[in-house]
Amino acid sequence: MRRPSWVPEGTDLDKPNAARVYDYYLGGSHNFEVDREMARKALALWPELPQIMRSNRAFLRRAVTFLAEQGVTRFLDIGSGIPTFGAVHEIARAIRPEAKVVYVDRDPVAVAHSRLLLEGDPASSVVQADLRDVDDLMARPEVTELLAEGEPVAVLLVAVAHFVSDDEDPCKLIGVIRDALRPGSALVLSHASLEGRPDQAEDHQKLYRMTPTPLTMRTHEQITAMFAGFDLVEPGVVYLPQWRPDQPESVGEHPERMTGVAGVGFRP
Ligand SMILES: C[S@@+](CC[C@H](N)C(=O)[O-])C[C@H]1O[C@@H](n2cnc3c(N)ncnc32)[C@H](O)[C@@H]1O
Repeated sequence: MRRPSWVPEGTDLDKPNAARVYDYYLGGSHNFEVDREMARKALALWPELPQIMRSNRAFLRRAVTFLAEQGVTRFLDIGSGIPTFGAVHEIARAIRPEAKVVYVDRDPVAVAHSRLLLEGDPASSVVQADLRDVDDLMARPEVTELLAEGEPVAVLLVAVAHFVSDDEDPCKLIGVIRDALRPGSALVLSHASLEGRPDQAEDHQKLYRMTPTPLTMRTHEQITAMFAGFDLVEPGVVYLPQWRPDQPESVGEHPERMTGVAGVGFRP
């Protein structure tokens, strides 16, 4: 197969990658047949997956739009995946052309694709770092420079904190980030939860045994606790489609089926 221009040299085209599988679910074009094959296997177990991931991505779009409208121009997107389909810099710049974004992911494949995609964009950068090593992440020059500019920064933890186990203490990690933020900064967080879908627990276990990345489902209460030290904006922590929908009818009858909750809070 010919290597497309967004694929770094040395990429193993025969091995599926989670970020490219995700891109496929979103309807993006940055994926290979091996990724689509993996996606089809997962779909057989959980047919609603693409809808869930699109619902998560639609939350990200609404949250970034909301913050840009509030005047936020600096974004730190942790666990960004490949910024292709509705990426933060595109959404934010539609309202704030001066918006700057630092993308962070632990996955070297996602980072390599992201670097090629964002080549030549002076107002965005890509960092390979792990949320679980938060001191290292917050000490990276791209991150310290963004924080030192004197502007409020929106930190995005969208569909990533569920990859942090209870032992690794996500609330503590988020607390370290929060303490580095100036007033007016924001936290945007979405997180998987099966609280509204207890019937899915077994299929979910099967699905994630197929992948190398374990997922910790949490309750609404546990996820709300991640906003400690932030003032939640209305409507608080809710199922993904319920967070400031574009139209009331886009919430649908069963928002709990999107198996994720989300919220946005400001640092007072
Ligand atoms: C489901 S994707 C979410 C992508 C994007 N934030 C969104 O919601 O559309 C999760 C991403 O988080 C990354 N990730 C998982 N654990 C991480 C960690 N501990 N530190 C940084 N990134 C992580 C994965 O590599 C993957 O690209």
